[in-house]
Amino acid sequence: MGGVVMASTVITSHAKTLRKKDFSVDTLYHGNCVAVMTDWSDNCIDLTVTSPPYDTLRNYEGYQFDFESIAAELLRVTKKGGVVVWVVGDKINGGRTLTSFRQATHFQEIGFTVHDVMIYQKKNTPFMRSNAYTNAYELMLVLSKGGPPKTFNPLKAPTVRSGEEMLTHNKLPDGINKKRRATLKREKTLTNIWSYAVGLGGTTRDKIAFQHPAVFPERLAEDHILSWSNPGEIVLDPMCGSGTTCKMAMLNERRYIGIDISSEYIDIAKERLGKLLL
Ligand SMILES: C[S@@+](CC[C@H](N)C(=O)[O-])C[C@H]1O[C@@H](n2cnc3c(N)ncnc32)[C@H](O)[C@@H]1O
Repeated sequence: MGGVVMASTVITSHAKTLRKKDFSVDTLYHGNCVAVMTDWSDNCIDLTVTSPPYDTLRNYEGYQFDFESIAAELLRVTKKGGVVVWVVGDKINGGRTLTSFRQATHFQEIGFTVHDVMIYQKKNTPFMRSNAYTNAYELMLVLSKGGPPKTFNPLKAPTVRSGEEMLTHNKLPDGINKKRRATLKREKTLTNIWSYAVGLGGTTRDKIAFQHPAVFPERLAEDHILSWSNPGEIVLDPMCGSGTTCKMAMLNERRYIGIDISSEYIDIAKERLGKLLL
């Protein structure tokens, strides 16, 4: 494998080197994620939670986004049964670019299982279209490598009703629902549509994070981290921006690795994570 080309920023005193000439955990790297990951061994990451630049919506230091190389490296470094959560939206300009669909298809073509296509619904959204409904969602592609996810810790919510009710228990091809009295469960597994408030207080309370133009909600990152990984496992964000995934990994006792091409954003992430150590 080639050498690491960019400098790494170790931000915590307890950073541990896993392998020689490999990567350090609890570390933020400044650089192109493809070049940084190139030096890592195969099958070393449990979970990735990330969000790429959306089309040409924003200019990140003029960098040309190389989606296919990033997808290939993510496949290589993910452990068998590991998961990549890819949060993506389309540019809307006249019509939708459908980049998110093309990326989903590409992930499948190179060998990922598209385990789920989840929806990130924004409870409040400032964008308005005069000739269409206000866009209030992005996709969360849940991709697994080499079979189904090795970890699934389903998040639950309390059921609205409680007590007993006549419940359907046997729907045969004749279409007749048989019902019997049964006790309602106290909680149920969430659906694959997750809603979050966005903006200050919703996305995060860290004011400094908003110096980055496209932060995703802390709870979104946390919900995926809890669902698809266990304490002590390695969580990567190869385009970590303000460091949301790294922060939530750290708060949930996972080991984090963050990479960003922008030194300005790495500095924001470093400041956010540094506050957790105070
Ligand atoms: C949508 S933002 C991620 C925001 C992040 N989820 C957060 O909550 O702050 C995408 C990030 O990708 C970074 N980026 C773009 N191309 C990159 C590359 N090749 N390697 C590493 N980072 C890259 C940008 O600098 C930007 O911060």
